[in-house]
Amino acid sequence: MADLHFDGRVAVVTGAGQGLGRSHALELAARGAKVVVNDLGGAVDGTGSSDTPARRVVEEIAAAGGQAVVDGGDVSTEEGAEGVVRTALEAYGRVDVVVNNAGILRDRSVKNITAAEWDAVLAVHLRGSFLVARAAFPHMRENGYGRVLNTSSPSGLFGNFGQVNYASAKMGLIGLTRTLAIEGAKYDITANAIAPVAYTRMTEDLFPPEMAGRLGPERVTPLVVYLVHESCAATGEVYTVGGGRVARVFVAEGPGYVQEDATAEDIRDNWPQISAERPYTVPRDIGEQTTGHFQALD
Ligand code: NAI
Repeated sequence: MADLHFDGRVAVVTGAGQGLGRSHALELAARGAKVVVNDLGGAVDGTGSSDTPARRVVEEIAAAGGQAVVDGGDVSTEEGAEGVVRTALEAYGRVDVVVNNAGILRDRSVKNITAAEWDAVLAVHLRGSFLVARAAFPHMRENGYGRVLNTSSPSGLFGNFGQVNYASAKMGLIGLTRTLAIEGAKYDITANAIAPVAYTRMTEDLFPPEMAGRLGPERVTPLVVYLVHESCAATGEVYTVGGGRVARVFVAEGPGYVQEDATAEDIRDNWPQISAERPYTVPRDIGEQTTGHFQALD
């Protein structure tokens, strides 16, 4: 089969000044996409700003013969998020691909976290991804084409001590992804999410040094490239990815226990059946889940 090209396509990558976003931007540009390299350029906790990281990536792309422009907007604000899409429209006249990747950390256990630390993390990951997708959506609808990729995390999917804000944002992104997929379906707009593992400044303290070389961001990017390519029909899906492994993660419902007049004691006594994982179903949307629920009641 032919290689995956992006000639004529315009991609926005948020948080693309370094780490995973940089890797996605470089590869999309190398494959012919015109890229908006967005980055606020702050520290891991989101403080500060600088246009240097984004500028460097644009220079790298240009040096390799690709096309890219800088956008220094803060995606957690309406102004910044809409500005990213405006940059794409002004520079290249359209927007085909949105890769929501910008992110920060303010790790704190639930006992110690402040509301401000909760808000700051939700604002960049969840609000920012929503705002950029919302800004791009009308243009994608008009073009009858769009690809959205959101960056979740195993921390959100599976939970992690000390990340109540981050995990909530990252799981929230799954709801956003699934609903964008449903609302975009008739316009050929897909939305998917990745839960990556990669060695970046965000994770450099977490992984043993010997793993660093095996967990480069460039081992996450191939999945991103495929998911945002026009030939990929997957939508509403989530994949864990890193170091050369890719796996679909899905939300499944077990067989359940049915008893119309179940008492609390019946619930207790049937806990193993309620907790059973097989056979399971994987509803595509609330309609399928509700239909299955009603069928089980018959
Ligand atoms: P990174 O810190 O290298 O990159 C994040 C980038 O986002 C930075 O360049 C930062 O300046 C930018 N950014 C932060 N707030 C922004 C804002 N409001 N507007 C625009 N840009 C902003 O970290 P990394 O590891 O490359 O993370 C990329 C994404 O992947 C994040 O969403 C992160 O949560 C997610 N992720 C990373 C994992 C890993 O193993 N590295 C694991 C799971 C998720």
